[in-house]
Amino acid sequence: MITEKKLITRLNETKKYLLDIFSEPPELGIILGSGLGRLAELVERQTIIPYKEIPHFPVSTVAGHSGRLVVGTLASKRVMILQGRFHYYEGYEMHEVTFPIRLMKALDVKGLIVTNAAGGINPDFAPGDLVLIKDHLNLMGNNPLRGSNISIQGPRFPDLSEAYDSKWLEKALGVMKELGLKAQQGVYAAVSGPSYETPAEIRFLRIIGADLVGMSTVPEVIVANHCGIKVLGISCVTNMAAGILPQKLSHAEVIATTEKVEKVFINYVQKVLEVL
Ligand code: HPA
Repeated sequence: MITEKKLITRLNETKKYLLDIFSEPPELGIILGSGLGRLAELVERQTIIPYKEIPHFPVSTVAGHSGRLVVGTLASKRVMILQGRFHYYEGYEMHEVTFPIRLMKALDVKGLIVTNAAGGINPDFAPGDLVLIKDHLNLMGNNPLRGSNISIQGPRFPDLSEAYDSKWLEKALGVMKELGLKAQQGVYAAVSGPSYETPAEIRFLRIIGADLVGMSTVPEVIVANHCGIKVLGISCVTNMAAGILPQKLSHAEVIATTEKVEKVFINYVQKVLEVL
């Protein structure tokens, strides 16, 4: 845990470092999940800053996450893209996992697009599908707001009754229809990982209302809501969750699916950016 004072000192130092590099502050943040990082290559007038050069930024360790901040313009929007996120299962504290979101708030970012690779629980989904997140179940056994409230950014007990902005969700569904994609939405259950779930756990998740399962996103979304940053969540179904099909799960399969959907995903997010 970290005190408010210490976190604010860190945020101010990181903000100053970044604003010296990019003069125009971004309006939107984008977090790219496992295997989905190549969208950042399309950013115009891009400034790339490796995480290891950013003061107080943790360094991401997972294969498939390159760990850099890309700032510039995408679909006429000024964006800051996190190419690689910090996962709780890597051993980071929740304040480290969500530091980029607090930083976005400090930079006056108004909206956030979170993306991830997820296991499909809803049998209507198939590997390769994009699914919009309409709500979540936080089953990580922790909450990023535990500890000192960062009171300059938000209240002690923030409302999460519309954690994913309903207007953005409608617009993003509209873009799926326009592009001839299956217009799908679902509830994302976040678990801590890093082991994949057992079939019994997946049956349990299905009963309690989950359509998707993954090991990320929810901490960032909770903090974004605390700060008053609007959220759109996009999952890429990389595999059917454990026990849904007679198969074993592997990270290699997850990455192979993201590679297959890369073009569709990149095109979709660009089109979504145009309507937000
Ligand atoms: N479970 C948890 N996280 C995941 C999965 C899964 O099946 N696929 C991709 N991330």
